[in-house]
Amino acid sequence: MSWTPGSWRTFPIKQQPTYTDQEALKAVEKELSSYPPLIFAGEARNLKEKLAAAGRGEAFLLQGGDCAESFSDFNAQSIKNLFKLMLQMNMVLMYSTGKPVVKVGRIAGQFAKPRSADFEEIDGVKLPSYRGDIINSIEFSEEARIPKPENMIKAYNQSAATLNLLRAFSRGGMADLKKVHQWNLDFIKDNPLGQKYHELSDKIDSAMKFMSACGLTSDNMPQLQQTTVYTSHEALLLNYEEALTRLDSETGEYYDCSAHMLWIGDRTRDLNEAHIEYFRGIANPIGCKVGPSMGEDELIALIDALNPKNEEGRLNLIVRMGADKIGEYFPKLLKRVRDEKRNVVWSCDPMHGNVEKSSTGFKTRDFANILSEVEQFFAIHKEMGTVGAGIHLEMTGNDVTECTGSTSCAITEEGLASRYHTQCDPRLNASQALELAFMLSDTIE
Ligand code: PEP
Ligand code: CO
Repeated sequence: MSWTPGSWRTFPIKQQPTYTDQEALKAVEKELSSYPPLIFAGEARNLKEKLAAAGRGEAFLLQGGDCAESFSDFNAQSIKNLFKLMLQMNMVLMYSTGKPVVKVGRIAGQFAKPRSADFEEIDGVKLPSYRGDIINSIEFSEEARIPKPENMIKAYNQSAATLNLLRAFSRGGMADLKKVHQWNLDFIKDNPLGQKYHELSDKIDSAMKFMSACGLTSDNMPQLQQTTVYTSHEALLLNYEEALTRLDSETGEYYDCSAHMLWIGDRTRDLNEAHIEYFRGIANPIGCKVGPSMGEDELIALIDALNPKNEEGRLNLIVRMGADKIGEYFPKLLKRVRDEKRNVVWSCDPMHGNVEKSSTGFKTRDFANILSEVEQFFAIHKEMGTVGAGIHLEMTGNDVTECTGSTSCAITEEGLASRYHTQCDPRLNASQALELAFMLSDTIE
């Protein structure tokens, strides 16, 4: 079973664009494969170790960001807001669990989208579906929906700039624990949730003062001044991923250097298809979505294909059943994996099984269902004596109105129209995400 970065090409594959200009495609792939990697293999190995700790219950995985990044909504403010939100959630979870939080953004590469239909029809006009900015454009016109290979170059450049800013924020002082109060976002500051975060910040301030009296300050302890936010995305468009796959000279292994962690979507995880073939050969930590259609035997076979050495921290199973299904479908999968002693990192994606259409016509998700799926996920683990290692969210640091509900902002179906900005699925806004972190911290403490 020899593997190369391009061996996926001889397998059946789903959810791909049909590029009409094969020469242009080849030229883009060639160019991308000459570009510098976006991440260093050693960083991916560090993340794998941290995920291994999360899988043992010694750390908590917080993965989140846009459903789909876009070329038009690319700016420093959105990146900064997401970064601050992750730091806030990090503090809430760290303070209650006493464990380190492994922060992984759905960012700097999250551009390609699987779609439920290949075509979209509006008023009798039928066009190919939008598949994410790395492939085509969201506008509803024939020209916009043509897949353009050169979008991959644009996605690479945007990812490089995004990652650069994340690294600057992480190391340049923004993450200093002295600034814990300043991470509060303006639009949350004055509501009860902002107050609750303030109170937590005060406690951290006191702890910092005490430590400072002991001689431990952020000036002499880099851990108090810096952080790490890893990057991840769904590696759907394999032409792009292959072009960024590099041989690591230290270990002789291949890494997908487009992000630290990559995952396989629920629609492209067929055992005999291209995505599994590609993923089995890269040494990064990887994820795989697990939806209601997953069978027990199928799951074991998938785990063995993706993690044949049963390595800790290698494979994150991202459960996305829906609040009304998780109780029925998840326990038997979990029991089987536990009984067969496979090492996996279980996390909960409470977003993708809870999509609904509002009476006002928006694709939305209700906060109560999201919270319910998260609570059930951790309760099932408790019952089974296994480890719920973390959560996987679609969220933004911006003040959008895409998901209904929550106590802190109580978005109604009518309210969705006011700031509905997503390119694809509805995201939790910053206050909904922070509220979820507080509720979760009560559940898992
Ligand atoms: C996603 O995470 O954006 C996604 C499409 O999820 P899933 O594959 O679980 O449907
Ligand atoms: Co999504």
